[in-house]
Amino acid sequence: MLRLIALLSLICTALSALNPSQDASSAAERVLDAGMEEFVLDTINEWSSPGGVAVAFVRELDDGGWQVETQGYGRAKEDDTLVDENTLFAIASNSKLFTATAAGMLISNTSISPPLSWDTKLASVIPGFATMDPIASAEITITDAMSHRTGIPRHDMSYSSSETVDSAMKKLPHLKPSADLRTIWQYNNIMYVALSYLPTLVLPSRPSIAQYVKEHVFDPLDLHDTTYSSRKALSSGRLADGFARQVNYSGDIFGPAITRTHPFFIDTDERGNFNAGAGGVISNAKDMATWLQALLLEGKNPRTNATVIPADVLRKVSSGISVSTPTAAYPELGPVVYGGGQMRGTYRGREYIEHGGSVPGFRTQITRFPNERFGLAVLVNDDTYGSQMHEAIKWRVVDSFLGLQPIDWSDRIKSKLLAEREKKPKLLPRPDDATVPSALEGRYEDAGYGGLLLCWMGAEDISREGLKNVQEDIAFLLSDLKEAHLQERHPKEDEAAPAAADTSDCGKLRATAPTVLPGVIDSSVPTLLAKWDRVWADYIKLAHYDGGLFNVTVLKSVPTGNASEPFWVAGTDDDPDLSNAEFAFDEAGGALGFGLTGGIWGAGAGVPSPKGDTPQARAEVWFTRGA
Ligand SMILES: *[C@@H]1O[C@H](CO)[C@@H](O)[C@H](O)[C@H]1NC(C)=O
Ligand SMILES: *[C@@H]1O[C@H](CO)[C@@H](O)[C@H](O)[C@H]1NC(C)=O
Ligand SMILES: *[C@@H]1O[C@H](CO)[C@@H](O)[C@H](O)[C@H]1NC(C)=O
Ligand SMILES: *[C@@H]1O[C@H](CO)[C@@H](O)[C@H](O)[C@H]1NC(C)=O
Ligand SMILES: *[C@@H]1O[C@H](CO)[C@@H](O)[C@H](O)[C@H]1NC(C)=O
Repeated sequence: MLRLIALLSLICTALSALNPSQDASSAAERVLDAGMEEFVLDTINEWSSPGGVAVAFVRELDDGGWQVETQGYGRAKEDDTLVDENTLFAIASNSKLFTATAAGMLISNTSISPPLSWDTKLASVIPGFATMDPIASAEITITDAMSHRTGIPRHDMSYSSSETVDSAMKKLPHLKPSADLRTIWQYNNIMYVALSYLPTLVLPSRPSIAQYVKEHVFDPLDLHDTTYSSRKALSSGRLADGFARQVNYSGDIFGPAITRTHPFFIDTDERGNFNAGAGGVISNAKDMATWLQALLLEGKNPRTNATVIPADVLRKVSSGISVSTPTAAYPELGPVVYGGGQMRGTYRGREYIEHGGSVPGFRTQITRFPNERFGLAVLVNDDTYGSQMHEAIKWRVVDSFLGLQPIDWSDRIKSKLLAEREKKPKLLPRPDDATVPSALEGRYEDAGYGGLLLCWMGAEDISREGLKNVQEDIAFLLSDLKEAHLQERHPKEDEAAPAAADTSDCGKLRATAPTVLPGVIDSSVPTLLAKWDRVWADYIKLAHYDGGLFNVTVLKSVPTGNASEPFWVAGTDDDPDLSNAEFAFDEAGGALGFGLTGGIWGAGAGVPSPKGDTPQARAEVWFTRGA
């Protein structure tokens, strides 16, 4: 591995020497120099990453010229194509700045009547806009939505991959809030879907956010490789593979692991889709270098000096509105405030403005220091430790440029990750005398999250009696095995498959589960499974704990293209998120529905779960039993 990386590094250096990307105008010292290359390759190695990194560095010179450097490191694709300045990455939530900027450009557009302002209420623009909280429904402004202070938690599991901007808006009134309006910062992608609706609603030509941003930002700034179209990116042949690993969460989490890839997470053309405003932009180091220059110039095209984005728009979205990090995590950092798709904080006494991005297979960070007049973008195609890598690389470039004693951020971040795992509550095994309620299989419905068909895995028609038999069978099967063996989970899905073909929807799910979710169903635990067509998931698993309480895991089943092992599972029991499902029953013992708890609504650390006397009141999301 080491040798491969060293070889890759030589090839990268050779490529960048053939294609010098540094502006000839400057005699300034190169920041992405051989030492930095060694550091980045060491970082890829230290995090055992199968992927690579693209870095763009820009700096305004005293004479108004620019030092522009871009470089690729490591692997772009499974076929060993290397990352270079043209390699395309999903920049993920770094797309939010384009959405907030578009809102600002519409606010500045004097030909729109009635005019928009930062205090325009979304309910006055978006037909039928409402949330579950009547005060928030009436009051949420553009500023509230872009600064994540609406009181509505993420609810990222509420949307499916076939969602539209309009259908996402219709779900909003059914998503439980976790705070009052303007009381705390809670990151919310759906509010950027709402903001992305503005161009369509206020302009006569009804452009999508993707069309609006292309016409008014990408094209005038010459960001010609930047696109919302996954199809265009794929057909260019330059889109990086989104690498991932199957980490052994019960062993060395930084150790070697099977390498996987994520197929690109969305399928869109130039019109984008509902995700465009929250995370739909695809770009490369070359264009991000230009974008950083434009941001440092507060909206001007660095080549022509033409104003593309009004300066006051970028000042507004880059200024603190809500507090995203009230106390700093490290002495070199300060508290962080959030504007619109921009965070603002300090590093070693200097102010920076940045945003991160994360979608399956990709992690990005785009940072600028407005006073020191430089900025950098770090784009990584590693789903597992890509965020940790971009932080370590980002701060090293900053330390190096500012001439500061470098800090070993990889080391710090690793220690922190391990400490956090230590602090996690230990999971309790299912009690030996656990009792399973009857008749839970069937359809459940939530207006915000859609419908689910929960199916028992392993048994064709599980009633209370039937299940008891299954448990007895399993106990009998296992009785010969040692106690230690019992503690370990050895899935035996094959035994669980029904003998005769069962053509019901649950029968089909039972038959396909071992293939699409290899190793996931523990046949010693009664388990309900449902297909769940979400952007971030494909299945939801409820493993029985006790009574009406289940342990919930959200699973992504990813095709491999390898017929002898056609799927792998991202997000498994090994790294549980502590979510629970709690069923409620009527007097006759029939299921009324179930609530999901434990943070699945994405309110963030420190925000309490709902309290109440019933499972429904305690639920972050409540699914009602269907007919
Ligand atoms: C843009 O403006 C800067 C600063 O005023 C100036 O130095 C530079 O020459 C201008 N460039 C062009 C192309 O006009
Ligand atoms: C401003 O609004 C007009 C129509 O009212 C539209 O044609 C134009 O493209 C808009 N420009 C921007 C930057 O929003
Ligand atoms: C994970 O690590 C543990 C502890 O080192 C080891 O016992 C186990 O076999 C590993 N699992 C896999 C799938 O490699
Ligand atoms: C299952 O949920 C219960 C109740 O929240 C919890 O105590 C237990 O640790 C969980 N167990 C597993 C294996 O997730
Ligand atoms: C396909 O999967 C099998 C079984 O895990 C594995 O042995 C083989 O190497 C894989 N083939 C490829 C091309 O990855």
